[in-house]
Amino acid sequence: MSFIPITSVVIGPEEEAAVLEVLRSGKLAQGPVVAELERSFAELCGVPHAVAVSNGTVALVAALEALGLGPGDEVITTPFSFAATLNAILESGATVRFADIRDDFTIDPESVRALVNERTKAIMPVHLYGLPADMPALTAIAEAAGVRIVEDAAQAHGARIGDRAVGSFGVGCFSLYATKNLQCGEGGLITTADDAVADRLRLLRNQGMRVRYQYEVPGHNWRLTDLQAAIAVPQVGRLAATTARRAANAERLTAGLAGLPGLATPTVPEGRGHVWHQYTVRIGADAPLTRDDLGKRLEQAEIGYGLYYPRLMHHYDCYVGHPRIAADATPRAESAATQVLSLPVHQHLSEGEVDRIVAAVRGPSMPDLAIIGAGIMGANHGRVARTVPDLTVTTVCDPDIDRAAALAKSIGAGYTSSVDDAIAAADAVVLATPSETHGELGERILRSGRDLLIEKPIATSVADARRLIDVAEQQDRILMVGHVERFNPVVTELLQLVDDPISLEIARVGPYPNRALADVVLDLMIHDVDLARAVTGAEIVEHRSMTRVVRSDEQDLACALLMFDNGVVANVTASRISQNKVRRITLTQRANCVVADLLRQQVEVHRIEHSEYLSEGGVRYRQSGLVEIPFLSQHGEPLMHELRHFADCVVNRRQPAVSGADGLAALEVCLGIRDSALAG
Ligand SMILES: Cc1ncc(COP(=O)(O)O)c(C=O)c1O
Repeated sequence: MSFIPITSVVIGPEEEAAVLEVLRSGKLAQGPVVAELERSFAELCGVPHAVAVSNGTVALVAALEALGLGPGDEVITTPFSFAATLNAILESGATVRFADIRDDFTIDPESVRALVNERTKAIMPVHLYGLPADMPALTAIAEAAGVRIVEDAAQAHGARIGDRAVGSFGVGCFSLYATKNLQCGEGGLITTADDAVADRLRLLRNQGMRVRYQYEVPGHNWRLTDLQAAIAVPQVGRLAATTARRAANAERLTAGLAGLPGLATPTVPEGRGHVWHQYTVRIGADAPLTRDDLGKRLEQAEIGYGLYYPRLMHHYDCYVGHPRIAADATPRAESAATQVLSLPVHQHLSEGEVDRIVAAVRGPSMPDLAIIGAGIMGANHGRVARTVPDLTVTTVCDPDIDRAAALAKSIGAGYTSSVDDAIAAADAVVLATPSETHGELGERILRSGRDLLIEKPIATSVADARRLIDVAEQQDRILMVGHVERFNPVVTELLQLVDDPISLEIARVGPYPNRALADVVLDLMIHDVDLARAVTGAEIVEHRSMTRVVRSDEQDLACALLMFDNGVVANVTASRISQNKVRRITLTQRANCVVADLLRQQVEVHRIEHSEYLSEGGVRYRQSGLVEIPFLSQHGEPLMHELRHFADCVVNRRQPAVSGADGLAALEVCLGIRDSALAG
């Protein structure tokens, strides 16, 4: 994946040849190539004059000076621009007033109208990002007030309103800086229909001389070189094609980004010809992610972006309190500065790259999910799926079509009794059928190229579990096992507190109903075998077990001792016969003892600070200690966290926290515990 830059400068063979010609001529300063640039650009803008200068800022300063502006005069402009706009006005000696902007980021004529006063001498709209400001409205205001218009068209070469180019409404100032749509490294062009202004500009540019050493006015050296003009001239001829490619990219971006909550794509008012120097979106306060988040997402996707401009110009310290800046309130401009982000739109982007930008901004899309098995666990998955934003359950599948229909109706999904139809309707599948069917159905799902969240136990035989893992790997699919307690927020907290474990005691007992098909080891204890592996971070090397039948001919009490390869021992009890429901992990470490209550979602850390034997009157023992109750950063139903984790793994192609291998490890141990118990 290659990086997509926000701007891309490609100097072609035409430019190379033209520059070489100038180099070989030995005449590098302003000469015939500058004249050719002026002629062709004036023609493009439909004006009689274009005057080339050394850069865009100079173009603005020169325009203001040529119009006779100076101290005491006011220029009304937008505060939402590059600093050159402001600097040029300050350099001319005039005072700056700021009008607010419209939603299209250009200056608001109504706001301008409200600021016009007897000191106003010029209005300086900026055709920001390549979009012309509302020149008909601004021209009307300027004419009524008898003031001039200087267009900051630095970013808007060839932009139009109807059939009129920008730069033809007032004195137009263009930049030829290296990243502009038309560029020569550094350069500027001033367009005007006013012969006198053009004449004065040429004088000012050349030290006040029309004829060598005959100074008519105090002037400047604002000249452009033929070397630079040679880079720009071929681009004038290609400008229409460049703009068309940028416009096509913008159109593709806008179509691709449509409908994203809180994200506004750029608007182009009727009749205005945008040249897409920048493609700027707005991330509103109601967007699900912040501008910083979007920036990070783009960085991760190796896509360049820009913030043009993160603050209003005059809010920088160096301008605050400036005596020639009248800082009127511009709330819309202020809000734009906090919300804008520009995406690559340049003419060298391929359609595939534009699509990559769209995909990165949109973010990963949630999978469509099928739930196979509409029993208790299937129904629970259906219920929590509705709490995962953008996750859709397309289909519920069960051989009992009435049961499938009932669950489907409650969660707004379709239903079927055909496993293949359910698989076909989804990207990812939750398999919540009886565990005897996991091996066969799981394999079918994975072979169809779907990601799979399989209820625990992963399978009923080690061979089936191994096959599922192999198929998932071959098919490059995600295989996650639903050991739901791993997603209990209390377990997440407990895992953070593991330091130097010595032993574990885990109890999962309660008045569970008799489930003839479900084995107490494979149904209940398997959770704790998995948790013990997660907490110790080690593998079980030995286990001893004991089971008892208490209520019926079904196994309903199991105790096991697990020994891990790091020396930790775990004592695990699961039963369906206790009148008290308990799900608790006690972790003994050298420094403390952590007790996690999985039902109440509470963790306690016990630490003995002091202990002594009291022997008078018989041996007694006294101790004092601390009990800390860490704050749980998240609460909520473990199954919801499990499903979210699965969706996240599917979207981001990440390995799940409970992999097929984890499911297999827990299964192998539990089968061993059960078999040794049954053996006596
Ligand atoms: C809006 C605006 N005004 C003025 C300028 C100044 O142009 P230059 O960098 O050529 O001096 C720029 C260019 O960077 C600009 O974006």
